[in-house]
Amino acid sequence: MMSDVKIEQLLSCDILELSEVEQVNFYLELVDFLQDLDRIYYDNNDPQIDDNIYDKLKSLHIKMITVYPYLKEHSKYYSTVGYKPSEKFNKIIHKVPMLSLSNIFDKDGLEDFIDKIRKYLNAEEDQFIEIVSEPKIDGLSATILYEKGVLTQAATRGDGYQGENVTENIKTISNIPKTIDSLDAPDRFEIRGEIYMTKSDFIKLNNKMVSEGKQTYVNPRNTAAGSLRHIDPNVTYSRNLKFFAYTWGDLSKIPCSTHFDMINLFKRWGFQVSPYTKNNKSLNQIYESYLEMNNLRSSLDYDIDGVVYKVNSIELQNRLGFISRSPRWAIAHKFEAEKAITRILDIEVQVGKTGSLTPVAKLEPVNIGGVLVKNATLHNEDFIKGINSEGLSIREGVDIRINDLVEIIRSGDVIPKVISVDKDARNKETEEFIFPIQCPVCKSPAIKERSEVTGKMSSTRRCTGGLYCESQILGCLEFFVSRNAMNIEGLGGKTMQLFFDNNFVISPSDIFTLEARQRNKEINILSLDGWGDLSMNNLFSNINERRSVTLDKLIYSLGIRHVGINTSKLIAQQLNSLQNLYEIIAEANNDYNKILNFLTDIDGLGKVAIESFLTFLTNEENLQILKRLSDEIEVRDLDIVINPNSVVQGLNIVFTGKFNGMSRSEAKDNAERMGAKVLSSVTSRTDLLIIGDEPGSKLKKAKELEIKIVTELEWLDIVKG
Ligand code: IVH
Repeated sequence: MMSDVKIEQLLSCDILELSEVEQVNFYLELVDFLQDLDRIYYDNNDPQIDDNIYDKLKSLHIKMITVYPYLKEHSKYYSTVGYKPSEKFNKIIHKVPMLSLSNIFDKDGLEDFIDKIRKYLNAEEDQFIEIVSEPKIDGLSATILYEKGVLTQAATRGDGYQGENVTENIKTISNIPKTIDSLDAPDRFEIRGEIYMTKSDFIKLNNKMVSEGKQTYVNPRNTAAGSLRHIDPNVTYSRNLKFFAYTWGDLSKIPCSTHFDMINLFKRWGFQVSPYTKNNKSLNQIYESYLEMNNLRSSLDYDIDGVVYKVNSIELQNRLGFISRSPRWAIAHKFEAEKAITRILDIEVQVGKTGSLTPVAKLEPVNIGGVLVKNATLHNEDFIKGINSEGLSIREGVDIRINDLVEIIRSGDVIPKVISVDKDARNKETEEFIFPIQCPVCKSPAIKERSEVTGKMSSTRRCTGGLYCESQILGCLEFFVSRNAMNIEGLGGKTMQLFFDNNFVISPSDIFTLEARQRNKEINILSLDGWGDLSMNNLFSNINERRSVTLDKLIYSLGIRHVGINTSKLIAQQLNSLQNLYEIIAEANNDYNKILNFLTDIDGLGKVAIESFLTFLTNEENLQILKRLSDEIEVRDLDIVINPNSVVQGLNIVFTGKFNGMSRSEAKDNAERMGAKVLSSVTSRTDLLIIGDEPGSKLKKAKELEIKIVTELEWLDIVKG
C-alpha cells in the first residue's frame, strides 16, 4: 500500500500547479519510480503494479516533458522504452494473433452489440443469433500448442502478435494436461485461455510474505503474471497457478461447428472450462446471465471483471471477422468496480518528497472482492471537506471524519477510494477532521498557494520545511545535485538514496565532506554494494569540480519553492555576493517588510517568490544548512560581463512603456551587463528612467521626483557606447 500512496501522490499531482523547483523535484521522483518499476520488472519478472497504472505513469512522464521540455536535461529516461520485452524468454510469433476485446458497460451497449451483428449479417427479423456468455477471468492469457497429443509449446500474449516462450513454466501448472489421448483431438491445435491465481492462494502467499517480513503483492492478477513469467519454473510451480480454457488459435482441423461445443470438447480433453458458460437464445437471457454472474462474483475464489459474449456459430464468427484489433463476434461486458462499507479508524497525513501532504484513511480491514483493503486515499484537504479541484461540492458536501462509516470502491486498476459517507450513522460526538497546517514530520508551516500558471488556489497543502524536513530531504538532495542545479554527476537517484540510507549524506554540505570523511575512516563508501576505488574516486573528482559556484546557482540549488533559475539570477544580481545575502537575511530578521520591499523592487521579481525566499532563509535551520554548505565551497559573484567604462555602472534604472527596437528583457539584460540595477518602480532611489511609447504613470512620478529621463533612442546610443 505504501507504493499505492506514492502512486496516488504522483497521479493526482496537477503538474501545471508546480513551481519550477517542484517541477524538477517531481520529475526526478517520477522517473525514479518508473525506473524502479522497470528494474523490478526486468530483474524479477514481477510487474508489481497494474499495466493500467503503469501506462498512466508513463503518460504523466510524457506530459511532463511536453509541458516542460527543459526537464529532458535532467534525465535520459524519456529516451528509453519501458517494459522492454523480457530478454529472459525467447519470442514466439503467434500464427493466429491473440487479439483483445472491446468493452461495454451497460444494457444499451449489449443491445448495440447484438444490433450491429444482426445488421452485418443481414439477419432475418425472427432469427435470433445464439450468444454464449462466460465469465471474464481477471488473469493473463496464454496459448498452448499440442502436437500429436503432446504439449510442445506455450506462450504469453505479449503484444498480441509475438509473445514469450513460457513452455517450461506452463508445464508446471497442475490443471493443464501435458498429453491428450483423445481420438477426436486434431494433430495440431492451440488451446487458449486465462492463467490465474485463486484468491485463497493469493491470501496465503501474502500471509507468508508478511511472516517473512517481505513486501506483499498487489493483487492476484499481477502475482499470476509475475509468477508465470518467472525465470525459475520452480517458482511458477510453487505459486499453484490455474488455467481456464476459453478459445483456440491455430487448428489443423475444426472439430465442431459452435463455440459451445468446442468448450465441451476442451472439457472432455481434460481442460478446466468455466462451469458458467451458457448458450443464450434471447437478449433477455443474455442480460440475465450477466446479472447472475455479477451476483456470483464475490463468492468465486478467483477474480472476474465482467462477462464475455461470443457468437456461438463458428461459421458466423468467420463471417463477422475483426475490426482493427478486436473481433466483431465477441465483446466484454465489464462489471462495476467492487465496493464495500467499512469504518475509518484514523486519518494519517503523509508527506511526499516534494512536500505535498496526502491524507490516507486507515480502515477497519475489509474484504473487497477477495483483497483485504486497509487503506484508502483521501487525496487532499479539500476532498476531506467535500470539495473537488474545481471548488464544487462532492458527496453532497459531506465531509469525512475519523470514525465515519464509508463506502470504499476498488477496481483492479485503481487505488481504493472513499466514494460516500454514511452521515446518518455518524456519532454526534465525532469532530470535523482538522487538516494540519504544520508539516506532521518537521512542524514547519504547511501552506496552500495560488498556482502561478492557472491562478487557482491549490487543493494541496505543502510543507515549507524543504531541506529541513525529513520527508523532503532526499528529494531536495536529488534536486541539489541535478543538472541545472549543482550538476554533480554520478550522485543522482540510486546513489543518493544509498548514501542517504547509510547516513553518509543528509545535508548538502555532507556531499563536500565525503572525501575527507572517507579518508578519516568516518565512513566507508567501499563497503557499499557495487562501489570500488575507481567509482569512488570518480565521484570525488566530480564533486570537487563543483566546489566553486556562482551565487545564482547556489540560490537555485537550495530548491526553494518558486525560486527558479530566473528568480535566482535576479536575486543574485541584486545582492552580488554571499556576504550581502547573509546581511539581508539578518536584516530581514529585524525588519522583514523592509527587505521584502527592497527585493520586490527588482524588476521581474514577484512577491510570491520573494516571500518564499525570505521564509526559507529566515528559518534558522535552513540558514545553518546554507552556512555549513558555504563553508565547504567557494561562492563566486555572478558571472556578468560588466563594461567597466559604462556610464550607467552602479545606477538604479527603471524601464517603462513599449520599446520598438528591442524587447524589454533585452533592454534589461543590456543594462545589467553594463553594471546597472534594474528596478520595477520609480522611487527616490531611481537614477534613470528609460521611456518607450506610452510611458504612463512612471513618467509622471519621475518628473515629480526630478529623475533623469532618457528615450529609447538615447538609451541605444548609451548601450552602443
Ligand atoms: S476471448 C479474440 N474469453 O480478456 C478474443 N477472453 O480483452 C479472445 N479474457 O486477452 C479472448 N476471460 O486475457 C476471452 N472468457 C474469456 C476471457 C477472456 C478473460 C481476457 C483475455 C483477453 C482479454 C480480452
